[in-house]
Amino acid sequence: SDQIIVAIDGYSSCGKSTLAKALAKKLHFIYVDSGAMYRAVALYFLRNNIDLNNHDQIMEALKKIHLNFHSRDYETHITLNDEEVSAEIRLMPVSETVSAVSAIKEVRTEMVKQQQRMGRSKNIVMDGRDIGTAVFPDAAVKIFMTADPKVRAERRYKELLPKNPDITLEEIFENIAHRDYQDTTRKESPLVRAHDAIILDNTDLNPDEQLLFALSKVE
Ligand code: C5P
Repeated sequence: SDQIIVAIDGYSSCGKSTLAKALAKKLHFIYVDSGAMYRAVALYFLRNNIDLNNHDQIMEALKKIHLNFHSRDYETHITLNDEEVSAEIRLMPVSETVSAVSAIKEVRTEMVKQQQRMGRSKNIVMDGRDIGTAVFPDAAVKIFMTADPKVRAERRYKELLPKNPDITLEEIFENIAHRDYQDTTRKESPLVRAHDAIILDNTDLNPDEQLLFALSKVE
């Protein structure tokens, strides 16, 4: 088909979604935040005390989870069984369990299936950890993002602080480091650069510079 998929993968809090949104807006593509899907599943698992080692419980839970994106102005709006959870999935309880949940094979199989369905007929920009390797290995453009972990923690801290005055830079740094570790060492499609992905280290780049870089690759 002549449809175009842009895959953006990389470490936690690297600005993947900022770049993916800007790119989608510029290109008039659909933006899909795959991390929001794993976060919503993690939220459901937390609320329902799902045992991460219990295959039957996990399968039952996955059957009951219905996720939907409704995109307005390229922000991520996700519903979990018709409840708007876009804000709650960003909070620490979810951030602390999402990588363990996303490491579960059954969870990944279901999410990848849904993600591939979303990309079947439309031009999309999707960001995540395995988009260029597992979800869309034939994506037209693959970008692998990285940045200094301290810079990443500071950016995320500034973003979360206004709504979460109790949050500390230390806990954010720890969470990012821990998620990077879990995501790169898990058995099921670990975070790894696809051999044909372009590396974008944005430690010293502002969002406009990143967008120009990405657009030059899409062209
Ligand atoms: O992108 P974000 O940081 O919101 O993703 C949250 C978590 O979801 C990641 O730390 C990772 O464990 C998981 N994830 C994944 N595969 C994706 C997207 C996210 O495993 N494609």
